[in-house]
Amino acid sequence: MNPQDFFSKKDYKFKLPPHLTDYQKTYDDFNWQEAAKEEISYFDGGKLNAAYNAVDRHLQTDRKNKKALLWEGDKGEKETYTFEELSKWSNKYGNYLKSLGVEKGDRVFLFLPRIPAVYFSFLGILKIGAIAGTLFSAFQEKALLDRLENSGAKVVITTKELLPRLVPLRKDLPELKTVVVVDDPQFLEQIKPVSDQLSVMPMEPTDYAFMLYTSGTTGKPKGIVHTHNAILSQHLTAKYILDIHNEDIYWCTADHGWVTGIAYGILGSLSCGVTSVVYSGRFDAAKWYEILQNYKVTIWYTAPTAIRMLMAGGDELVAKYDLSNLRHLLSVGEPLNPEAIRWGLKVYGLPFHDTWWQTETGSIIIGNYPTMDIKIGVMGKPFMGIHTGIVDDKGVEVPNKTEGNIAMKPGWPSQMAWVWNNDEKYKSYFENGWYISGDRGWKDDEGYFHFVGRADDVIKTSGERVGPFEVESSLIEFPGVVEAGVIGKPDALRGEIIKAFVVLSPELREKAKDEEFVKKLKDDLAMHVKKNLAGHAYPREVDFIDKLPKTRSGKIMRRILKAQEMGEPVGDTSTLEEY
Ligand code: PRX
Repeated sequence: MNPQDFFSKKDYKFKLPPHLTDYQKTYDDFNWQEAAKEEISYFDGGKLNAAYNAVDRHLQTDRKNKKALLWEGDKGEKETYTFEELSKWSNKYGNYLKSLGVEKGDRVFLFLPRIPAVYFSFLGILKIGAIAGTLFSAFQEKALLDRLENSGAKVVITTKELLPRLVPLRKDLPELKTVVVVDDPQFLEQIKPVSDQLSVMPMEPTDYAFMLYTSGTTGKPKGIVHTHNAILSQHLTAKYILDIHNEDIYWCTADHGWVTGIAYGILGSLSCGVTSVVYSGRFDAAKWYEILQNYKVTIWYTAPTAIRMLMAGGDELVAKYDLSNLRHLLSVGEPLNPEAIRWGLKVYGLPFHDTWWQTETGSIIIGNYPTMDIKIGVMGKPFMGIHTGIVDDKGVEVPNKTEGNIAMKPGWPSQMAWVWNNDEKYKSYFENGWYISGDRGWKDDEGYFHFVGRADDVIKTSGERVGPFEVESSLIEFPGVVEAGVIGKPDALRGEIIKAFVVLSPELREKAKDEEFVKKLKDDLAMHVKKNLAGHAYPREVDFIDKLPKTRSGKIMRRILKAQEMGEPVGDTSTLEEY
């Protein structure tokens, strides 16, 4: 490896001594039971509650009056909450939900922008033993309907602004009993007298705590379910990989609609007792630097697309701000380009530390640790207690330096516990005693894991996971669209963009001879997906074609569309219908 592809930590000046001093020794000596005893608070009989660990247990310490949240809204509004206040607010929400008849195991979904009510409701739901589900506020009717219908949600918590998207769906959601609107004056009156005292429900470690819908190649999004015990993995990774110390000011830029926003925006980070910055506005390079500067952020967990957008914002902009409090930078969600790491070193004087994981894994699985030398462009090494390897399609480990499936031996605490109402899908993740991630990679002789790509057609655009099937389904609802095939097309800024290949009806095909018409049709198609599915899942590029490549059984062969788009050889076409 070229020295410029390597960042040594040998003479690195740590502002705080890292929690993890010797990776290999800690990995070798690690034991989940002992870690649990040391780090997590249990009730009698081995029961626990993730929300109690995140918040309430700190009230017995001098963190009681410590600031838990420093919130800033998109219009510059500011609110702060101590751990005690957060505890009381989540108690109020928990009691309120109980008064609506919410019971253990019921699904309560958050359809909220990034406001403090996310914390009050998410934690309140867990405290009363119900299951919290989160939804991106960019979701439109179709995306909402699929998720709320499949989960059988009993309550949805939202705002006045987002409510109109839910109203037309109510008739199709018989299990949805109540929609709570947190900024409605009537609700604000109702919540006032609700008690802020609540006895947290002790849960079995295997009881469900939260769920998130995520996309695969086929079918509708799947509800990935996590248990209360996931807090153990989330706490430990927040401590050893994010390196959270009591005195840190921590900013995780992820939304709660994404697993990062839950595991490291709510549970793992609060469990470590850190003060968190929460900013609800959209991305803006200058504003982000202002947040880093004004709140004196020390640990910053973000994503490659954001880093690339900051790079595009230029070096001069960085120089205008005092970012001297920063001490540890991390990234997740897509491959972290070597370029981004080098740029980080240049402008912030610090390297970004890559972390790899998934909605299904519930916590970081592979990462670059503070004390570990960074091989630039490489994801790092497995977390303690998780046997991680590279296996072939039959689940047999392959030698080092051989490409295969990134896989883990099941059983770590934050491993998904179920796919909601879909045993078959859940079982399909496992092969020969391994959990198969769906990502391809390889391991080098020093035990570092290298990322190659997805094994399936799942698209990653600006870090968001988008299933091509959902976008195709949305496109064919548009009058005159006969068929659609959707792929992720590599993009310098967003990692990938969504590109659609659309087959039109003969009538539209005739009209599409006119250039102006084609331009408008492309815009209309993008708008259709934006309005019906989700704001971020629309095709930025659309091509009209006569026929989609399909297998003899009728499956769209997206890899052929992709190869053609990239000007690459199309590979084996023996299963193709006709070509
Ligand atoms: O393909 C991998 C990519 O993101 C997928 C998981 O997406 P999601 O469930 O939305 O969770 C993302 C946040 C935890 C993975 O299968 N991915 C995630 N991290 C990395 C990555 N690809 C390359 N490098 C990473 N560090």
